[in-house]
Amino acid sequence: MPGLLLDTLRGTNSNKRPTWLMRQAGRYLPEYRALRAEKGGFLALVYDTEAAAEITLQPIQRFGFDGAILFSDILIVPYAMGQDLQFLAGEGPKLSPRLVDHALGTLEAVPERLSPIYETVRLVSAALDADKTMLGFAGSPWTVATYMTAGEGSRDQHETRAMAYRDPQGFQAIIDAVSQVTIEYLCGQIEAGAEAVQLFDSWAGTLSPAQFERWVIAPNAAIVAAVKARHPETPIIGFPKGAGEKLPAYARETGVDALGIDETIDPIWAARELPAGMPVQGNLDPLLLLAGGEELDQAATHVLEAFAERPHVFNLGHGIGQHTPIAHVERLLATVRGWSRG
Ligand code: CP3
Repeated sequence: MPGLLLDTLRGTNSNKRPTWLMRQAGRYLPEYRALRAEKGGFLALVYDTEAAAEITLQPIQRFGFDGAILFSDILIVPYAMGQDLQFLAGEGPKLSPRLVDHALGTLEAVPERLSPIYETVRLVSAALDADKTMLGFAGSPWTVATYMTAGEGSRDQHETRAMAYRDPQGFQAIIDAVSQVTIEYLCGQIEAGAEAVQLFDSWAGTLSPAQFERWVIAPNAAIVAAVKARHPETPIIGFPKGAGEKLPAYARETGVDALGIDETIDPIWAARELPAGMPVQGNLDPLLLLAGGEELDQAATHVLEAFAERPHVFNLGHGIGQHTPIAHVERLLATVRGWSRG
């Protein structure tokens, strides 16, 4: 029995909606904060496979979500490509050397940095009930490249966008290198037990239409084709956050099986404009989950109703915030589980 989430990602429009939340394994959970304090930091947790498996399972045990998303980070790929990675409290991630002033060729790859992640997937898969879905993930090349070039997160990715205009060939080489590692990394997760995978393109929204074609659609299409050649049965969810009116082109041209959409998208527009029958995932505003109350119930029902005529995985439009009350998650789940099509 594959379970409601996997069925939905494969295109079945069931009467009930499966649900999981982006960043469901994380700081809003007291049991996560306790383990993090004990193990001393985020990266230490990711590389302690027993702890990472436990954290992956924490939100399933507490809430019974339909999917367990691997506890790791999109920046493990640049770490395996040879950049140094640090998560400094209150400052976000730092990668060095940054590729705006260091050639890609100076990095020395450390592929062993990916192996423990596969072990975590194996541990979780072995522990997960058959009706729950193990979700793997990676960042998309554009989003990962923004961190690799600037060395950190930035508000509008201007250094990376400028570099891509100034030196398109050099930037293409970075995108291609990230794509190759990402293909191996996703296939490795699938071979270890991931039943579906998501590509996070969190910073797709700052690109011009031509740049979006080149740096978002083209590399995601290449990754989808390569992963599908080896694992045709595994659904791939694309999440080009901020893509707006470019979503239909992304949906048609990348070959992804399902589309994650963020909270800026009108679900009624998405239901009408996206390819017929394509599963969608989203798109409640995470801040409504923080706020709670009747507005939360109404907005969640609005999303459920809007997508009634196509396969739909209920999720947020972006990750759950660290100050979100547990009671609000429970309230949301009551709405989603109480809803039925027709
Ligand atoms: O969704 C999940 O629960 C699975 C694990 C997961 C994490 N990061 C854990 C994490 C996933 C899927 C990610 C994806 C990720 N990481 C993205 C894409 C999605 C998005 O949110 O846009 C990006 C851009 C990153 C990079 C990253 N990692 C940043 C910018 C930060 C710092 C900001 C922050 O939220 O702390 C991280 C750290 C991070 N990744 C934490 C977690 C649980 C917080 C670590 C901690 O301090 O405990």
